[in-house]
Amino acid sequence: KNIAIFASGTGSNAQKIIDHFRSSGLARVSVILSNKADAGVLTIAEREQIPAVVIDKEQFFRGDTYVKLLQELGTDLVVLAGFLWKVPANLVQAFSGRIINIHPALLPKFGGKGMYGHFVHEAVLAAGEKESGITIHYVNEKYDDGGVILQERCAILPEDTPDTLARKVQVLEHQWFPLIVERLLK
Ligand code: GRF
Repeated sequence: KNIAIFASGTGSNAQKIIDHFRSSGLARVSVILSNKADAGVLTIAEREQIPAVVIDKEQFFRGDTYVKLLQELGTDLVVLAGFLWKVPANLVQAFSGRIINIHPALLPKFGGKGMYGHFVHEAVLAAGEKESGITIHYVNEKYDDGGVILQERCAILPEDTPDTLARKVQVLEHQWFPLIVERLLK
């Protein structure tokens, strides 16, 4: 099975997924796409000898270049791992039910455009939440809105900061995202 990963940042989730399938015959990450030419995830792609694509914004939102590319690669699952652009309708439709995203909070709260990275954890703490966590969900035409696949929680302690909360949430991401990807591809 072929996994395509879209990421905008460091790519720690991408790395965990690559590691998870390294010795498995079930699936492999066949392409990594990023909207940022200097994203850490592209360095991971290079080191792992995985084909990498820097996305052209115009083409992504107006053409079907990337839909065709993913179809030609025989992509079975599209994984958004810290991808900051909304997925255009043609891609959502072409891979309906086969695009998933991970969000570092318990949707439907603390989701939507602009809610990523530290902004999410700051908002959760500012709201006085007693817990946070991750949401892995199907992607549809709206931000952070598709059907929920899995949510896992972590406690928030009074002394927590956006940094300490981010770290607790990241542990959940790294633990669960590869397992959900595997479950969906089985
Ligand atoms: C993670 O917090 C993930 O939940 C969010 O973007 C971040 C990606 O981090 N979607 P990384 O680039 O995988 O380290």
